[in-house]
Amino acid sequence: MTAHKIALIPGDGIGVDVTDAAMQVLDAAAARFGFTLEPSRFDWSCETCLATGRMMPEDGIEQLRPFDAIYLGAVGWPATVPDSVSLHGLLLPIRKAFDQYANIRPHRLLPGVEGPLRAEGFDILCIRENTEGEYSGAGGRVHQGRDNEVATETAIFTRKGVERIIRFGFEQARARRGHLTSVTKSNAQKYSMVFWDEVTQQVAAEYPDVTVSPMHIDAMAAKMVMAPQDLDVIVASNLFGDILTDLGAAIQGGLGFAASANICPDRSGPSMFEPVHGSAPDIAGRNLANPIAAIWSGAMMLEHLGEKPAADAVLAAIESATARGIGIRPGLHGTDAITAAVLAALEEHA
Ligand code: NAI
Ligand code: MG
Repeated sequence: MTAHKIALIPGDGIGVDVTDAAMQVLDAAAARFGFTLEPSRFDWSCETCLATGRMMPEDGIEQLRPFDAIYLGAVGWPATVPDSVSLHGLLLPIRKAFDQYANIRPHRLLPGVEGPLRAEGFDILCIRENTEGEYSGAGGRVHQGRDNEVATETAIFTRKGVERIIRFGFEQARARRGHLTSVTKSNAQKYSMVFWDEVTQQVAAEYPDVTVSPMHIDAMAAKMVMAPQDLDVIVASNLFGDILTDLGAAIQGGLGFAASANICPDRSGPSMFEPVHGSAPDIAGRNLANPIAAIWSGAMMLEHLGEKPAADAVLAAIESATARGIGIRPGLHGTDAITAAVLAALEEHA
């Protein structure tokens, strides 16, 4: 029997609530499809940080390296640890160290969920570049506090970085409905985004079966609201993708449904799967968190591990629960009730 080794990092707040819930569902799927998940739990969190001064041990990255995947809840407890510390002490180093350059997020309405738009039937996969671009961290400030103060933040786009994310976008489009929208702004950004467009055209030659359209970020934002059903796969830079995926989460009904994966496509290191939401201190530990985003992220992990039938069954179970009205609005059902409904649906379809 295949055993997948999972590094489980529940983190803080509802990160713990939703990973506990989701692991029950993932274990049930594993049992049904004849494999096992072997989680090793790492209690790396803001609490650890307060006790030890670090979000994870000095050799944390080396501890994670041997795992088949990393499954994370959420980190952050702003009342005691500044968000810049919790983010830069755990999440960002993991994404960088394992070259998880593709951040992917599915946006669609689950059955029974209304969302703020009247749009129906959209199914978007958003792919965000996760390592460079506008968030490269290149810049500086001089003459701080004086009237001649200067701040710069340089966006860095490398051929390697752009080419690989665009290629990843084409691969995903090929496996779906065959359409890729490349998010750009080459009318205004005449170096980086013109380069982005050129690379897109060059890579497109390798994928004659995929249609590709460039679209400016501003038009894209409007399109996601006005006609999301026309979109299939979207590929975007770090900043543009960051913004569009929050919009995507909103149109699919909110953070309770937004799943994500940080993928290292060449598998030189483990990939990381996590719900988009944070640790939600306002509802932590009170059986109020919607675990669907975490369960869906877990399904993405199963697919990445080669367990596609199990991943499909988990998604079908989520859909069957929401189709019956479970968890479709904030506050309607508790974490336990939603988890139980998904588990029951998983059994039913067996
Ligand atoms: P948040 O996502 O934790 O919460 C925003 C709002 O959405 C809150 O009202 C919360 O109750 C609600 N919410 C979020 N997820 C929910 C769920 N599954 N079910 C029901 N309601 C849900 O964002 P916020 O409040 O800005 O950040 C709280 C902490 O989380 C901060 O320390 C922040 O840095 C951290 N954070 C961590 C992330 C990560 O680990 N990837 C991502 C975003 C924030
Ligand atoms: Mg964001």
